[in-house]
Amino acid sequence: MFELNGKVAIVTGCNTGLGQGMALALAQAGCDIVGINVVPASETATALERMGRRFHDIAADLRTAAAEALVARATAAFGHIDILVNNAGIIRRADALEFTEQDWDDVIAVNLKAVFFLSQAAARQFIRQKTAGRIVNIASLLSFQGGIRVPSYTAAKSGVLGLTRLLANEWAQYGITVNAIAPGYMATNNTAPLRADPARSKEILGRIPLGRWGLPADLGGPVVFLGLGRRVLRHRPRARRRRRLARTLSHQAGDPGAESIFTLTGNAKRSLQRQTVIASSHRPPPAGGNSQ
Ligand SMILES: NC(=O)c1ccc[n+]([C@@H]2O[C@H](COP(=O)([O-])OP(=O)(O)OC[C@H]3O[C@@H](n4cnc5c(N)ncnc54)[C@H](O)[C@@H]3O)[C@@H](O)[C@H]2O)c1
Repeated sequence: MFELNGKVAIVTGCNTGLGQGMALALAQAGCDIVGINVVPASETATALERMGRRFHDIAADLRTAAAEALVARATAAFGHIDILVNNAGIIRRADALEFTEQDWDDVIAVNLKAVFFLSQAAARQFIRQKTAGRIVNIASLLSFQGGIRVPSYTAAKSGVLGLTRLLANEWAQYGITVNAIAPGYMATNNTAPLRADPARSKEILGRIPLGRWGLPADLGGPVVFLGLGRRVLRHRPRARRRRRLARTLSHQAGDPGAESIFTLTGNAKRSLQRQTVIASSHRPPPAGGNSQ
């Protein structure tokens, strides 16, 4: 049921972290992968080759690269594209009173502007191909909370949430679905300073019922599910489909409780919102919504 054989997925920022975890999961499900990376993705390339999948890496800085040209190169690599995962992201931490214009512009450029223009370029390609493309954006808990000391990150990730909803509305008519996964606290470079600070780490883990940081592999099940074409989802009776989805998401995350590490939003949220399977189990933050 959860197969993506013959599909091509673009994953931005797949040399490490969550992008690498999702690229490996998509490849495991059958996809060939096109990476868009500012840092060479040699470790990912080796892992994908071992799995027998094709990998094409495009070197680009998403602060400045032209999205249309990137998608054209990605399409040329394997002849078509089916899935875009807008994963690449950066974070800059400083008190809002001291925050610089550079830290604002860089984060907005990678985490929000590139997400929109890559989505636009991919959607144009899906329409040219006449295929039901899949776009998965990586949002954040800070799409829903304020956080502290990360103003451009919170603004960008809140923007990703709204943008995902808008694009889901506009492009459903073309058979293109647009969804976002909003991870909680994951053990990657992004959170290294938080994990290195014993007081912050303790405070953060205290709000996570599972009592652990999320892992890149936790997003494997969700991204594969959101990458599936419509045909696969149509032919199953609803209740059975939901039970199977619940089991598969849990098992692919390697932890029966792992669905609580992320939240989904976009087209998928609408069809799944009556389920209890997908929910953020992060306890509400104290008044003021502090995190990060
Ligand atoms: N780690 C978390 O707790 C967490 C939580 C919520 C959301 N996220 C989001 O998940 C995504 C992946 O982050 P991660 O946690 O794996 O962190 P990471 O720092 O390990 O990975 C970020 C990726 O983005 C790439 N990147 C950065 N700047 C780039 C640029 N200018 N051009 C092209 N690529 C660039 C990096 O090379 C890297 O591959 C990000 O969008 C991040 O905001 C992370």
